[in-house]
Amino acid sequence: MSATKNTVVYRVIIGLLLLTIVGLVLKFVVLGRTGTEVDGRVTILLDPSERVVVLNEMRQFLVGIQQMLEAAERKDAAAIVKITRPLGMAAAHAVPPGLAAKLPLEFKTLGHSVHNDFDRIAMDAEAMNDVQLSLRQLGQTMNKCVACHATYQIALPPGPRQ
Ligand code: HEC
Repeated sequence: MSATKNTVVYRVIIGLLLLTIVGLVLKFVVLGRTGTEVDGRVTILLDPSERVVVLNEMRQFLVGIQQMLEAAERKDAAAIVKITRPLGMAAAHAVPPGLAAKLPLEFKTLGHSVHNDFDRIAMDAEAMNDVQLSLRQLGQTMNKCVACHATYQIALPPGPRQ
């Protein structure tokens, strides 16, 4: 084979590799595994055990918020620090990688942003001892809970199971 032919072959191979990488990133980082919309919301297709992981995390949010409201009523900023810290990014790292690949990028971004907010609430409550600030921050963060719930729901993939 001539040198120029070789160059063309290499370029084609590199091009195909790049396309494959772009395809993989698109599938596992950006798109996730989603199905048809049922009620206007995008359905994320998760296996039952993965759904349990996501819903567990959600209920921890709910429990945390309930405890935060009581702590704020008592003007107990130290308790708010204790309650919100475990809801921060530390919790997000517990998500198994196989599950992360099925979640669309926007979902992951919103989720991370909520965890970051709880870290921020914990930090500020510790530094400023101001429960009014914590409440204001919680109200803003909960816009993200609302936005995500308006956009996504979880479904099991179609086909025989269990
Ligand atoms: C990135 C998206 C996203 C964010 C952010 C989010 N949720 Fe969720 N949440 C979901 C999805 C999806 C479901 C499943 C809904 C369905 O399948 O109908 C869910 C379900 C829940 C449930 C029901 C749990 C169960 O056991 O059925 C609760 C409670 C909940 N979320 C609370 C919250 C709270 C509180 C926040 C904010 C602090 C929050 N979520 C933020 C996506 C999100």
